[in-house]
Amino acid sequence: MHNLKKVLALLTVLVMLVGIMAGCSSSNQPVSSDDTSNTSNSSDDGNSDKIKIGFSLPTLREERYERDRDAFTKKAESLGAEVLVQAANNDENLQNNQVENLLTQGIDILVLDPQNADSAAALVDEAHKAGIKVISYDRLIKNTDVDLYISFDNEKVGELQGKFLTDLVPKGVYYVFAGSPTDNNATLFKQGAMKYIQPLADKGDITIAYDQAIKDWQPEEAMKLMENALTANNNKVDAVLAPNDGTAGGIIQALAAQGLAGKVPVTGQDAELAAVKRIVEGTQSMTVFKDVRVLAEKAAELAVQMAQGKEVSELTDVNGKVDNGKIEVPSVLLTPVVITKDNIDKELIESGWFTKEQVYGSN
Ligand code: BGC
Repeated sequence: MHNLKKVLALLTVLVMLVGIMAGCSSSNQPVSSDDTSNTSNSSDDGNSDKIKIGFSLPTLREERYERDRDAFTKKAESLGAEVLVQAANNDENLQNNQVENLLTQGIDILVLDPQNADSAAALVDEAHKAGIKVISYDRLIKNTDVDLYISFDNEKVGELQGKFLTDLVPKGVYYVFAGSPTDNNATLFKQGAMKYIQPLADKGDITIAYDQAIKDWQPEEAMKLMENALTANNNKVDAVLAPNDGTAGGIIQALAAQGLAGKVPVTGQDAELAAVKRIVEGTQSMTVFKDVRVLAEKAAELAVQMAQGKEVSELTDVNGKVDNGKIEVPSVLLTPVVITKDNIDKELIESGWFTKEQVYGSN
């Protein structure tokens, strides 16, 4: 019985080997473009003139990233390019491997949304050594001569959250949460929000009873931290700065367990469906809408132009510069919008972000 199993296993391996060899000999491309990608959109038409774009995302966990991926791919393909997409599950080592892999697949340009703003600089260097330009997507890559940055005005996102909260609660006990410490956006969001919160704290009107970053933006982690904060402060809380909708969800769950959901203003960001529903039911106060369809389409257009040899200085969309610690990176920054109960229809439904049914329908 044992031996039979061994023989069968050996036979299986042999059959697989023959299969692999046959696959290789029938293809003149040594590296297959779709075996390493978890969400590859590569087409297999063998047209080597096609521009190949590598698009590396840190995660697909937040709802937005599927929109980023789909809008980017659709736009790039409509311009005749091919896109290889990778998502790294919030794991910087995995992202390193995935990007290195994209580089071996002959991409013409790399669009990189980094899991770690600092360590991703090494990936930019590698790409540059191979003669490939890099666009920093949504999150800034620091301390490197990255070619272009495209994102929203992220400090403004934080300002919108901070202004909203301090207008509503100019005095009281605040819990201040920030996103992942490895994400430069998280720093900018907090910086923007603190422009409004800090002066009131300095005056003594606001007490910051809790101040904490959330590893990898994890909603479960946010919930645990919020539970701790509530316990440590005997449930005293008047306002919560939550950096995005995912973490707001965890925070609101912890509030709900204490019967406080809907009684304490909580911010957010991303206009996720669950968050917009919470705004309608009154347990989340606001979110910040960043239309990532526009971001992704613009990024795809610019990537194609740069891959065709256009210089960054010739790109008409560049509207600013952002200091990344090494250079002033030419940047395209889009404008974020506050969403409350009052403008869900105008901003999110009329723009086709959600249908009326999705937002107000039952369940
Ligand atoms: C993005 C947010 C997102 C967060 C977590 C940030 O860099 O700008 O939209 O919610 O990362 O993925």
